[in-house]
Amino acid sequence: MLILPVVIFAQTSSNKNISLPQLGKNSLKDIVSAMTLEEKAKLVVGMGFRMPAAPPANNRRDSTTRRDTSRTAAPRFQADPDADKIPEKVPGAAGRTHAIPRLGIPSITVSDGPAGVRISPIRNGDSSKTYYATAFPVATLLASSWDTALVRKVGVAFGHEIHEYGVDIILGPALNIHRNPLGGRNFEYYSEDPLIAGSMTAAIVNGIQSNGVGTSIKHYAANNQETNRNSINTIISERALREIYLKGFEIAVKKSHPWTVMSSYNKINGTYTSERPDLITTILRNEWGFKGLVMTDWFGGHDPVAQMKAGNDLLMPGTPNQTKAIIEAVNKGDLDIKQLDLNVERILNIILLSPEFKKYKYSGKPDLVKDAQVSRMAAAEGMILLKNDNSALPLKNVKKIALFGNTSYDIIAGGTGSGEVNKAYTVSLLQGLKNGGFETDQALQDNYEQYLRAEKAKRPRPRFFMLPPPISELAIATDQLANEADKTDIAIITIGRNAGEGADRKLDNDFYLSSQEKELIKNVADAYHAKNKKLIVVLNIGGVIETASWRDGVDGILLAWQPGLEAGNAITDILSGKVNPSGKLATTFPMDYKDDPTAKNFPGKELVKDTATSPRPAFGGRPAEVIYEEGVYVGYRYYNTFKVKPAYPFGYGLSYTNFSYGKLSLSSPQFNGKLKATLTVTNSGKTAGKEVVELYVGAPGIKLDKPAEELKAFAKTRLLQPGQSQTLNFVIDAADLASFDTNSSSWVAEAGKYTVKAGTSSENIKQTVTFHLAKEIVTEKDSKQVAPQVDISELKSDKTAFIYELNNFGITTK
Ligand code: BGC
Repeated sequence: MLILPVVIFAQTSSNKNISLPQLGKNSLKDIVSAMTLEEKAKLVVGMGFRMPAAPPANNRRDSTTRRDTSRTAAPRFQADPDADKIPEKVPGAAGRTHAIPRLGIPSITVSDGPAGVRISPIRNGDSSKTYYATAFPVATLLASSWDTALVRKVGVAFGHEIHEYGVDIILGPALNIHRNPLGGRNFEYYSEDPLIAGSMTAAIVNGIQSNGVGTSIKHYAANNQETNRNSINTIISERALREIYLKGFEIAVKKSHPWTVMSSYNKINGTYTSERPDLITTILRNEWGFKGLVMTDWFGGHDPVAQMKAGNDLLMPGTPNQTKAIIEAVNKGDLDIKQLDLNVERILNIILLSPEFKKYKYSGKPDLVKDAQVSRMAAAEGMILLKNDNSALPLKNVKKIALFGNTSYDIIAGGTGSGEVNKAYTVSLLQGLKNGGFETDQALQDNYEQYLRAEKAKRPRPRFFMLPPPISELAIATDQLANEADKTDIAIITIGRNAGEGADRKLDNDFYLSSQEKELIKNVADAYHAKNKKLIVVLNIGGVIETASWRDGVDGILLAWQPGLEAGNAITDILSGKVNPSGKLATTFPMDYKDDPTAKNFPGKELVKDTATSPRPAFGGRPAEVIYEEGVYVGYRYYNTFKVKPAYPFGYGLSYTNFSYGKLSLSSPQFNGKLKATLTVTNSGKTAGKEVVELYVGAPGIKLDKPAEELKAFAKTRLLQPGQSQTLNFVIDAADLASFDTNSSSWVAEAGKYTVKAGTSSENIKQTVTFHLAKEIVTEKDSKQVAPQVDISELKSDKTAFIYELNNFGITTK
């Protein structure tokens, strides 16, 4: 049954159209010349909007999961009649292209999203056969592993599921920069640092694509917020764009050759990204050598003809109006047919690679048991031990645990929106601890379960992208707490946060803990400390929260992120010591929100004066702009340069063991095009563990303003037994030293003294060594592209910076 569409296509193409050129048998040139204008204009426009979020063309509801009905497309998005006529190959996939059977061109299927295959798990109400997928840990957790080999392994398992479920291209990974802690989709993204974001993307793309399926790295580019996401004009300097927001895409394109790139919803410097030839053709294709196809984000951009001209080959999910506009533009001479042919050819090139074209007989039965183990293993590798006073962890002499916090019983595997995976189960922390052989307090469990059931029953049905309001923490009386502290050996509180596409996070009760959460932490800490027992907090969150105001009251903090479907088991692996934590922050935790360099420019300002008479459309948003005044000073680049102390710095994470660092040596004290840095790490503690070594470089910064240091390489050791050592090698080349000089549109490595710093975090540098670059090197000459139309008062690391800092206190944080 699964291969039915393939059979139909094969018959149609081989019997009836024997004399016509056929894709794969004849040259692309022959295929393109045999296509009618209408066929071309249909191929570059997807087949309608049966995305998991949206109802089908006739507005029928397809309610296979809660989220499926919660993302509803706005009426202005008209459906393609083909979408209703032609049965979906993979129900719940996000979109597909038009087939042209007479030329042997099949329809290919694309599906969300970054943390696992997002498809309908139940088809036609028949639950005797299910199509659940593995929810892998969210991208922020994967990045926190600092382990590209591990991330590649996740990609291999993920790609296998994509292949076996009949999908051709997965709509991920997503690698936008964590510009601001409140970014609603930060969980889908890797890091505040482009080297991490690009390296992780390349690793997972290589893993996924090794299965013969494609990826779509997204959202290109500078899609760093959800507020007014379809209308926001991001005003940004060429240098910040290239060094921070494009760099990760460049690394990914060069190191992993993703089949496709997805352009973003936002505008950059006045124009939608999908309509910018400079971004999509000049930079992506000409400068970086990207060979695949570019698709829009769902209903992204505005002008289909401008999108074709920009090199945005495929408009997704596609509407008949777009096809019509393209046909008209060619007929009127507004769109050169040669341009359209090029867009068509790029799509055909990808179709040629697809499993659908190769008639792959997918099983619909990936090995979910095996993949769950990969998910669990990866989850534990990316969790970060933030605090561990007096070796509170791993749990020792602990038999019975008091488990507090709603989320302990209702764990969050991953975020919402298109990034959510329809998984068969999620292991709660309660279950994980039990599986790990721990006893938990039954009375507490009963209280929580009853409370959660009652509160959930009261919640309104979620609409559009909106998350239901969080359930406030159950208040527990002091005498009950005292009783729990008597009965149990240790207390664990889980704090949970969720977010997703369509909205950014809030400060109150989200970035900041709610008063009930703070009270719970304080009361449990008092009760347990009074009996000389400990309290551990587990953070089951997808983005950064405030920790400085409450962390002193607790003994240990484990940042578990959103760890995928094996959540509770993976957290227990760390709590029990079965796995020694080795994750490190790939994004900074500030002391307070107002410390963040982007706080005064997030999420920008709406340009509509009278918002009362201008209701916010469901899709689209109001005209708005955001100015990236912080320039390249995002995350640790800012905190380190301007000496603003964060709560937990970039690169930070504790272990159950200790490591000592040998001398950092360089292949030469003079830079001659390339340098090798070498360092030996020894496990000097008592437990086997892995260490991440982070290599930062500080540049002269005379001609070009430079951050105090920037991450240029990183490596993770293998599991080192106590006393064991490993020597790590890092390569620094000229491009690593270069910055984008806007005046000359070139990448320049300045002459002078550079410092290489090997650290266990960006703050805790263990070894430094210097080298000299005798003469400036221009590593690449580009041209002026995507330039802002207005002056940006950009942050620089000279004294103007401190004025900026003083101005940076406009946010009421309470
Ligand atoms: C999201 C994309 C996603 C697409 C298809 C859009 O709303 O921004 O990330 O791939 O929907 O579901």
